[in-house]
Amino acid sequence: MQNNLYQPIYGETSHKELKEFERRIEIIKQHIPDGSTVIDIGCNYGWNCFKLSENKTLKITGVDEFPERTKMSGNELYYFLANKTIKKYGITNVKILMGGPPSYTKHDYGIATYILHHYLKNPLKLSKGLNEDGQKLNKAIQQSANKLILQIRHKDHEEHIPFFEQIGYTNLKTIDNGKLKSPLIIGEALEK
Ligand SMILES: C[S@@+](CC[C@H](N)C(=O)[O-])C[C@H]1O[C@@H](n2cnc3c(N)ncnc32)[C@H](O)[C@@H]1O
Repeated sequence: MQNNLYQPIYGETSHKELKEFERRIEIIKQHIPDGSTVIDIGCNYGWNCFKLSENKTLKITGVDEFPERTKMSGNELYYFLANKTIKKYGITNVKILMGGPPSYTKHDYGIATYILHHYLKNPLKLSKGLNEDGQKLNKAIQQSANKLILQIRHKDHEEHIPFFEQIGYTNLKTIDNGKLKSPLIIGEALEK
């Protein structure tokens, strides 16, 4: 699939951000071995899922709570568009589900990118941790996969690994070599 085919999927995203997402998914791809099951939590229009689906040995599930859109438009726009893409391109290894926590089934790899920072107790201070909804979501993320690929959008780059440690992750490693706007991190949940 060509990149421009994704533009309607990630409709609000500027060209510059698409480049960033391209860079990110290429790194993610390198860390997910063939044959893995993958869950993308907060998958939005499913862009990560569709890019990953180019590896036909992967089985991918995308989930999103779709809260704002559902309220704003009165329909399930992300869900609708993601499923339209599946049909249009005959994608057989992606499933898009609607709904947030309390729980997701276990996968080999979980992706939670640009989602948890929406749930900071204090948006200016990562050290203050997650609010109550964030804690629920984080628990569901932790239970969703053996290995997790994590990213939060926040300017305090030095604080990202300590933040994930504080909220229950271990064996954390930054995998983007400073190539992304926010560090992309791989790790595991402390409690499995
Ligand atoms: C900023 S977007 C990030 C999209 C994508 N993960 C990425 O990295 O480009 C955050 C997404 O998380 C979703 N989201 C927020 N809270 C959620 C929850 N509790 N469960 C599932 N998805 C959620 C939103 O609907 C939105 O699509």
